[in-house]
Amino acid sequence: MAVVGIIPAAGSGERLGASGPKAFTDCAGRPLLDWSLDVLGQVCSRVVVAVPQGFENGGPDRVLGGESRSASVRNALAAAPEATVAVVHDAARPLVTRELVERCIAALPGWEGAIAAAPVTDTIKQTDAGGRVVRTLERSTLWSIQTPQVFDAGALRKALDVGDEVLAGATDDASLVEAAGGSVRVVEAPPENVKVTRRADLLLAESLLRAH
Ligand code: CTP
Ligand code: MG
Repeated sequence: MAVVGIIPAAGSGERLGASGPKAFTDCAGRPLLDWSLDVLGQVCSRVVVAVPQGFENGGPDRVLGGESRSASVRNALAAAPEATVAVVHDAARPLVTRELVERCIAALPGWEGAIAAAPVTDTIKQTDAGGRVVRTLERSTLWSIQTPQVFDAGALRKALDVGDEVLAGATDDASLVEAAGGSVRVVEAPPENVKVTRRADLLLAESLLRAH
């Protein structure tokens, strides 16, 4: 079994609004990407990182990212033909732990995907286009989906073998595996596994990392 890490880190970080790409922005004293690289490196035989143009020579196993997040995952996975298990993790989640990655890997047998998720704590309502509430969803069945997302590498390769416009519409890789007929299960993750999207998230992540 060859467990390979895949880190999409090629986004521009528009919503964060830093001076450079988000994955290379300082987070608690080091580039945001490095927190995830360290953790995946402890569990995976190697870690392939999809990076923005100009960052290809910043370390081993760097590949140029794509137009969308899932296109970046596809590019990175193409550079790891030996992978039988793929651990996909966003550079934007620096609080990932070895324990969480190992629990996702341990949950994979018998499934095509095992993905980190947190139970939803807000009440979720659906509205029509005018903002009128049409239903309140049953919260006990709802999960907020995170990364790491661990896949049978063959199933992920097949799921990513679709048009660029389909990849651009996907907000995670598991949805592509589901669409290809794969079975995916959730693995409960700690709420600390936050995603850095905006400035307030960066401040929260830094304070959690420093408290560790
Ligand atoms: N990502 C990527 N390739 C892209 C777009 C995103 O590898 N073409 C990566 C980002 O670097 C990030 C992860 O996918 O680690 C999740 O994306 P997101 O949080 O949306 O990051 P950005 O796209 O960089 O941010 P924004 O959408 O605010 O520009
Ligand atoms: Mg984005």
